[in-house]
This record gives sequence, structure tokens and C-alpha cells, in this order.
Amino acid sequence: MKMENLSYREAVEHLASIAGLSVPKSVSFDGEIGRLRKDIYEMNRIAARYFHDILMSDKGKPALDYLLNRGLSMKTIVNFGLGASPPEGWYNLINHLRSKGYNNNQIRQSGLASTSDKGMFDRFRNRVMFPIIDHRNNVIGFGGRTMENDPAKYLNTSENVAFKKGSNLYALNFAKSTKTGSLILCEGYMDVISLHQAGFNSAVATLGTALTLDQARLMKRMTDNVIICYDSDEAGRNATKRAIDILKSVDLNVRVITVTGGKDPDEFIKTHGAQKFAALLTGSVNHIDYRLDEVKRKYNTDIDNEKVSCINEMLGVLSDITNKVEIEIYIDKISKMLNVSTENLLAELNSVKKKINRIRENKQKKEELENLKGMNDKINPQRSKYLKASRAEEDIISILINYPEKYKKVLENVNETDFVTDFNRSVFVVLCEKLEQNTNSNVLHTLSALFDSDKIGKIMSYISSLEAIEVNDDKIKQIATTLKEEKIKATMNGLSINDNDFSSRLDDLRKNRKRDK
Ligand code: UTP
Ligand code: MN
Repeated sequence: MKMENLSYREAVEHLASIAGLSVPKSVSFDGEIGRLRKDIYEMNRIAARYFHDILMSDKGKPALDYLLNRGLSMKTIVNFGLGASPPEGWYNLINHLRSKGYNNNQIRQSGLASTSDKGMFDRFRNRVMFPIIDHRNNVIGFGGRTMENDPAKYLNTSENVAFKKGSNLYALNFAKSTKTGSLILCEGYMDVISLHQAGFNSAVATLGTALTLDQARLMKRMTDNVIICYDSDEAGRNATKRAIDILKSVDLNVRVITVTGGKDPDEFIKTHGAQKFAALLTGSVNHIDYRLDEVKRKYNTDIDNEKVSCINEMLGVLSDITNKVEIEIYIDKISKMLNVSTENLLAELNSVKKKINRIRENKQKKEELENLKGMNDKINPQRSKYLKASRAEEDIISILINYPEKYKKVLENVNETDFVTDFNRSVFVVLCEKLEQNTNSNVLHTLSALFDSDKIGKIMSYISSLEAIEVNDDKIKQIATTLKEEKIKATMNGLSINDNDFSSRLDDLRKNRKRDK
């Protein structure tokens, strides 16, 4: 089974079944984490109401003027639940939440407050507030825009158990019921709001980060068609190319709009109006045409050798297409674009395809080899460097998950400072925090709430390798000793001491110790 391909829930179930535990049907809403998540939704809802009331009061006048000046109607403002965080004071929302019965701990965990050495203070101050609502209508967090020149133009709620930036999309709660059969993917909150106001109610946006696979899968659940509508600047065009790859990887049909005259869709609509935007939508090109144009603009095709490179790169874009008619259409296009015969292009396409396949096969082989060697690990990039330490760490993590009753025994032998790799240490710390409270608790809940599906997949892979070893107290000691030795090695490595130096030093240490006795 390929762990990366599992959905989040499947991953948890798989993890549980390997660990011999049962997962309640509503795992994400049971238990402490589920309760905390619900509390955060509720605190966010109270906060949204509070920010909205401020926007509509005297204190919110500058924020309201700002939104009206940007062309939003009162109806849009109410519809999106926009608000304002108080222009003055550091504890307004905190006090409001306290008055509703929430304690400091809950408020801290909601991400609505920030902490300094002096204590907690309101995270959002003097900003226009955009509540972020998931497709189940939970208020999961906020984006706050400065009205002045704060270098952080937008400030988001920090990641917590309720707010995962990479797994949600802004306005999906509205867009999911669109009848247009496609979603329009934008970069910014204001783009989305402008588009909805202009009648394009299928617009959504990422939450201040690049598009993720989780978000692509989320879209795939709602539709088969996505139209990318990013900024037309260079950053936007690069983001478009990456987004095409991610969306294609979950089998979505992808089209692209190029916004000309106006940096982003919001500005375009303000300058040219809704009808012109509708024309852009109609004129959206499929991702192949888009990529061909992007290749074309890179080269000066009046120069012969640039023209050759351009053709080769364009044929590379076509190399994935299997449909013969489609190939004919695009070959025809390139032929007209660059004034080359279709016969030559077709012949060239075949050799480009062969070359690309060869490169791909080689790359795949190399990847497989590296995976075998435990290298090239995206989740735990330090793994390849500290292979032996990582394996020991992974055994310890698996023991904690599979044999929580061994928790005390494990702690007698290892602590977090023995860990070499950061990712494994973070998993270890989470597990210990949980098991410290209660060794009977289902640690899977905790893991599944705190780590995304890729990381869960990674942790699962540890457990399957543990199955092969028998776990008893001696084994735990042995693994701990290995880890401690590797930790010393790694620390010395950091001081740039090579392996031979290290073993001779270790020998010296041992001799000295014997002499001391
Ligand atoms: P842009 O800088 O393109 O802003 O960021 P925008 O959407 O056009 O904003 P307006 O029109 O000036 O209000 C696009 C998106 O990137 C995220 C936000 O989600 C924003 O909507 N972003 C941007 C941040 O999270 N932080 C920032 O400081 C800037
Ligand atoms: Mn903008």
C-alpha cells in the first residue's frame, strides 16, 4: 500500500489497525482534541460576531470606509461576515472571550491571542478582519489586513488544531454550491470577494500559502474543473505553473485565465467590470495552451538556435498527451506559431518523447534507489544524514505507539535531548506529553490532530518496520544505547570530526573510564 495516497482518515485507520487499536467512527470529533477544536470554532464564531459589531460601530468607521472605498457593498460585507479588530487596546477580544466563560488556556490555543514574556495580548489589532469559514461552515480562523503600511499586509490565525492553512480554501463554503461546474482559483481574499460580488460565485483562494495537494483533493471532491486566475506578475505566473502540476496530479481539468490590465482579478473587475471578466473566463485557455505561450515568451524565435530550443521545450509540453487528435491539434498550433512543418514536428516529438521517457525512467530508478537507502526524505530531511540514529528514533516512536504501557520504561532510557532528527523529536515530544497524562489514552487521536496526512503516513511506516522486532525491556535499552551513541557521533560530526577520529576518541574515553574505576 502506498501511504502517501491514503486519505487522512484512511491513514489514521490504517495506523490504528497496525497498532491493534480501534478507531471510533467519528475520530476527529471525539476526545480532547475534538473538544478543543469545537471550542475553537465557537471562540472564532464569537470573535467574528465581535469584529463585525465593531465594524458597524463608531470605532469601526475607518475600517468600514476602507472596505467601501475598495468597492464592496454593504451586502457583500455582511455576506462575508467582514469585521474590524479594535483600533486601540491590547486585550479587547481576550476580555470579551473571558466574559463568555473561556479560560486563558483555551484562548491561547485558539490562536486569537499572541503571547510575549509579559503575557497574552490580542493577535489582531486595528485590522480589517476576514473570517475564514470551512466547507462545513465552521469559522476556522481569520485573515486580518492592515489599513496602514504594516509590512505584514495580511496576518492569519496561526496554525492550530482547527486551522490548517494547507487543507482549506477561502469561500469554499459559498463556492461549493455553485452551479457553474467549475471553481475559480485565486490568490487573495479580496480577489475572491470582488468576484463573488460581481456574480462569479465559484471563486476560492488559498490561505496565504502556495496550493497544496490536500487543497487540490478538496476541490476534486466538489468539481472536475478548475480555472486558475492568479496575478499576472512573474510570481503569479510561476505559481500558476506549479498549481497546474498539482491540480493535474489529482486529475482535474485545468484552464488558466491571464489577467491583463490590472495586476489581480480584483483590480481587473474594478477597472473593466464584470462583463469583461466574463469574457476572460470564456477566453480562458487550457493548461497546454497556457504552457505553450509561457514557453514562447521565454525565447526570441527570430534567432535560429533560440527557435530550436523553443520548439524542443514546446514538444516537451506535449509529451504527456496520449490522445492522437489532441496531439494533431497542438502540433498544428506550434507549426503555425513558429512556421515549421507538422511532419518535422511530429518526427521531433517522437524523439523528444523517447528522450523524456528515458530521463524519467532514470529519475525514477534513482528515486527508488534513494528511497531504498532511506534517502531523499522530505518529511525528515535529516534522516539520510543520520540514518542509524533515525532508525533508533523510529523504533522508540513505534514502541510508544504500539506499547504505550512501556512509556515509563522508555523514559528511563531516553529523553528528547537524545534525539538527533528534529521531526522525530517533535513526534516523540507529542507522544510523551500525551502519555504523561494517561498511558491509556489513544495517542492516535493526538497524532492525527497535530500532523498532516503526509506526516501521519511517515509515522505509519515506522510502525510497520517495528513489527519485525520483539519488544522487551532489554530491547528498549539496546535501542536507547544505540541512539545515545549516535547522538554523540552526530554532535561531534557537527564539530567536523570524521568517523575514524570519532571511534578512536570513543576508545580513549572507554579506556579512561576503565582507568578511573
Ligand atoms: P497579495 O499581496 O497579492 O494581496 O497577496 P492582495 O490579495 O492583492 O491584497 P489586497 O488586494 O492588497 O488586499 C495575496 C494573498 O496572499 C496572502 C493573503 O492571503 C493575500 O490575500 N498574504 C499576502 C499574506 O498572507 N500575507 C501577506 O503579508 C501578504
Ligand atoms: Mn489585490
